[in-house]
Amino acid sequence: MRVSGFANLLRMRIVFLNPTGQIGGAERSLLDFMASLREAQPSWDLHLVAGDNGPLVDACEGISVRSRSLCLPRELACLGDAAAGGPAGQELSRAVLLGRLAMAGVAAARYVHSLRCVLNELKPDLIHTNGFKMHALGAWAKPSNVSLVWHIHDYVSSRAVMARLLRMFAGRCTAAIANSASVAADFKSALKSRMPIHEVWNAVDLNEFSPEGPKLDLDAASGLPLASNNVVRIGLVGTLAKWKGHDVLLRALAMLPTDLPVRGYVVGDALYQTGASQWSLDELKQQAMHLGLTKRVGFTGFVSRSAQAMRSLDIVVHASTQPEPFGLVIAEAMACRRALIASAAGGANEIIRDGVNALAHAPGNTDALAGLIARLANDPDLREKLGQAGRQTAERHFDRSRLGLQLAPIYRSILSARSAQAA
Ligand code: GLC
Repeated sequence: MRVSGFANLLRMRIVFLNPTGQIGGAERSLLDFMASLREAQPSWDLHLVAGDNGPLVDACEGISVRSRSLCLPRELACLGDAAAGGPAGQELSRAVLLGRLAMAGVAAARYVHSLRCVLNELKPDLIHTNGFKMHALGAWAKPSNVSLVWHIHDYVSSRAVMARLLRMFAGRCTAAIANSASVAADFKSALKSRMPIHEVWNAVDLNEFSPEGPKLDLDAASGLPLASNNVVRIGLVGTLAKWKGHDVLLRALAMLPTDLPVRGYVVGDALYQTGASQWSLDELKQQAMHLGLTKRVGFTGFVSRSAQAMRSLDIVVHASTQPEPFGLVIAEAMACRRALIASAAGGANEIIRDGVNALAHAPGNTDALAGLIARLANDPDLREKLGQAGRQTAERHFDRSRLGLQLAPIYRSILSARSAQAA
């Protein structure tokens, strides 16, 4: 690796590793961290290696981060324990998962060899991994004298297999970053490691996620006739992970009086290759049909600029059925000055204040969600009030220029400690 010492602190080379090239919440967060770090430290050398080609790799160009893909073999890309007792439920049995894991072992060893070659070529001062698979693969592949930071976006304790793998590799990781206090506490108790863990809330680009700007025509995108002027538009924005509660929103919409002028929207599509943990658009459309919602709910499919979709919504719904580790979509909706209904558990609870910047319901409580939608649909003043308070929260806490300022000292202290050890 490169010579360690003071020179490195001035011109650090960081390699970010991400398991996929698609852009879900953890990847949007990674892009914001990299963009903010690029602004805060223009002389640092930033590289991304993604486990798949895709928009994440392309988006790096716009923020002057060099990127490449090193494709994960299928056995690894499809592997996930989120659906084996994790947030998505119990669809895959633990035994099936362990079988798949054994098959993936050989593929993982081969991948680690290739990843090690890439890392030897890039010669990072520090590696920052994003996503459970890369935490393990990065720890396995990294040269022993390079520091590693795990960026934890999800609860470790609900991922039995991943928790075990992380415990195995924790000794090779220097520090962790968690997206909320709740995720940090879970990580500490699941790993029982003395590794330092830094809480860094996510942030968003307040210019992109702003109340003013272009809007998406949600009706056209969903193939629905234009809704009349008085219709209140309500939507859930994000990937189709099952625990995000699309089914809860659909059932809540079906409970509303038919004369209430509302239209629901599902904005997003299934993104990842870990099939069992996600709805497909067709499955959700079927559910809407069985609930008699065909004319009342639109499905836009994947939308590349989610801020444009949010600006077209009167109410953004966050309906996660499990504790939400952070809830980037909550920060984004607030930044767009939208009225927000959020499911209050986990890291989301650190952000929302019920009745002030959002209305809160218990995860999975369909009746409560339907009640809140009806209340907000009937009360434009309350929508306005919540939206304004949300924008204030976003300006105070979610301006992404904070990220680079928080991240750089963490990296510096890690490298200084390493230089001191080596001296
Ligand atoms: C993961 C978490 C989500 C968080 C995002 C960014 O997707 O599930 O809560 O907002 O990462 O940290």
